[in-house]
Amino acid sequence: MDLQLNGKTALVTGASMGIGRAIAKGLAAEGVRLCIAARRRNLLEDLSKEIAAAGGPAPVLAVVDVMEEDAPQRLTATALHGLGQIDILVNCAGGSRPPVAIDAPEEEWSHAMTLNFIRVRQVTHAVLPGMIERQWGRVINITGKSEPERLIAATPAKAAVHAWAKGL
Ligand SMILES: NC(=O)c1ccc[n+]([C@@H]2O[C@H](COP(=O)([O-])OP(=O)(O)OC[C@H]3O[C@@H](n4cnc5c(N)ncnc54)[C@H](OP(=O)(O)O)[C@@H]3O)[C@@H](O)[C@H]2O)c1
Repeated sequence: MDLQLNGKTALVTGASMGIGRAIAKGLAAEGVRLCIAARRRNLLEDLSKEIAAAGGPAPVLAVVDVMEEDAPQRLTATALHGLGQIDILVNCAGGSRPPVAIDAPEEEWSHAMTLNFIRVRQVTHAVLPGMIERQWGRVINITGKSEPERLIAATPAKAAVHAWAKGL
């Protein structure tokens, strides 16, 4: 399929496995130059080799733990250095832990909120000025369902992404 993305650039977070990895491969197959980000370098290197073997452009690797305070700036700087500009941002890094009890430590809630919302917002806000300047950009947020059967700390964080993204 030609999605008319050939020559575009994309930063994909959470690209070492799962949904982010599949998105990265799909974009690379469309001729998009990628910066792929996650903590596990070995998995990013495997993906990079796979993309190159399929004839795609070799991705820029960003090995980063987004929970670290300065991660959004470092991640964006690495992507911009390697790609020149970021046309497409795919916010996929995130995850959910098992349901929590009502007396779960505050850390559970703050971890889920930082990983699934705060870093998504910060990375996006760091990338947006370039998109606005060029009058072209796409931000894709991978979130989750809004009707949890149990108390899951990631759910309100994903809901925060929905509300923030609508405002954006
Ligand atoms: N699978 C589902 O059923 C489902 C349902 C609803 C929502 N989602 C959402 O979809 C997204 C992807 O899910 P998935 O199932 O593909 O998950 P996954 O297979 O666990 O992949 C999560 C990705 O995020 C990265 N990541 C996690 N914590 C990170 C951190 N602190 N710093 C940097 N990267 C980090 C992981 O890379 P490293 O571990 O290498 O850092 C990995 O690449 C997540 O946001 C998830 O909440 C998934």
